[in-house]
Amino acid sequence: MKDQAYNLRMKMLQSQNAPAKTIAIVSGKGGVGKSNISTNISLSLVRKGYKTLLFDLDIGMGNIDILLGSQSKGTIVDFLHNTSLQVTDVISKDESGLSYISGGNGLASLVEWEEEKMERFLNGLNELVYSHDFLIFDMGAGATKDTLSLLMAMDEIFVVTTPEPTSLTDAYSMIKYIYSKDQTKEFLLICNRAEPISEGKEILERLQKTIEKFLNKKVSLLGVLPEDKTVRKAVGQQKPFSVSYPNASITKSLEHLVDRYLSSDESKPITAEKNHFIKRIGKMFFGR
Ligand SMILES: Nc1ncnc2c1ncn2[C@@H]1O[C@H](COP(=O)(O)OP(=O)(O)OP(=O)(O)O)[C@@H](O)[C@H]1O
Ligand SMILES: [Mg+2]
Repeated sequence: MKDQAYNLRMKMLQSQNAPAKTIAIVSGKGGVGKSNISTNISLSLVRKGYKTLLFDLDIGMGNIDILLGSQSKGTIVDFLHNTSLQVTDVISKDESGLSYISGGNGLASLVEWEEEKMERFLNGLNELVYSHDFLIFDMGAGATKDTLSLLMAMDEIFVVTTPEPTSLTDAYSMIKYIYSKDQTKEFLLICNRAEPISEGKEILERLQKTIEKFLNKKVSLLGVLPEDKTVRKAVGQQKPFSVSYPNASITKSLEHLVDRYLSSDESKPITAEKNHFIKRIGKMFFGR
């Protein structure tokens, strides 16, 4: 029932060409499960009827096509280097119907791009924004100078941590860093590899309280995902866990997390008039 209402809302929006919601999936520490989470959240959105594009922005280290067990048509690096390509030429589809763009290799640091390449990137993104409901960006770990400007432009940032103290402190440092550049950014917290789930909840609540106390910033708890052997198995089989193991506890928790997100204020679509993603990136890079 809920899904139908959302689908309807999204369809209405599409007809008015509303921009997609842009979400970056980040972490302070590496290896906490970002790529698996981005992939399976994107697939869940596709299953719920949303036009979703997964964008591998872990340039040089990207592994989305490996996780999907799919051969990508091209990469964002190809699009940037080969001016005869349209952005749609580098969109690949996996067997579940998920659209994705691979990161590729050999890209100079974003901050060093010449204006022409940046314009091309922005025009490509613009096209994607107006042809999708959600753009999900799988990022590399940590906030580098490079990715910061892109993160600043996202509508939302999903921060993934595990219960490990080092992962938590790195998540906090990352949020603090982004917050120091933009106080209005929305953060949604995810704890992955919790064992048991209740521990993950406690950990997120502690992180939330710390952020409120020291940064005076409200953040939302998005959900807890359990430690689950099926993740590793699925990675080995090159099939996303929510596809190979639809009844696994991790899949159920993930679906729950996506439902919670879709029913929250954060998922409410942005209106076309609002100063959105592309305008924000443009401002960041060109000051206009
Ligand atoms: N919930 C989980 N239960 C068990 N193992 C998990 C879980 N989540 C992730 N893993 C393990 O952690 C590995 C790393 O996951 P993933 O590649 O998604 O992390 P990442 O944050 O994208 O890493 P990087 O920072 O290198 O990009 C997986 O291959 C899997 O073995
Ligand atoms: Mg990754």
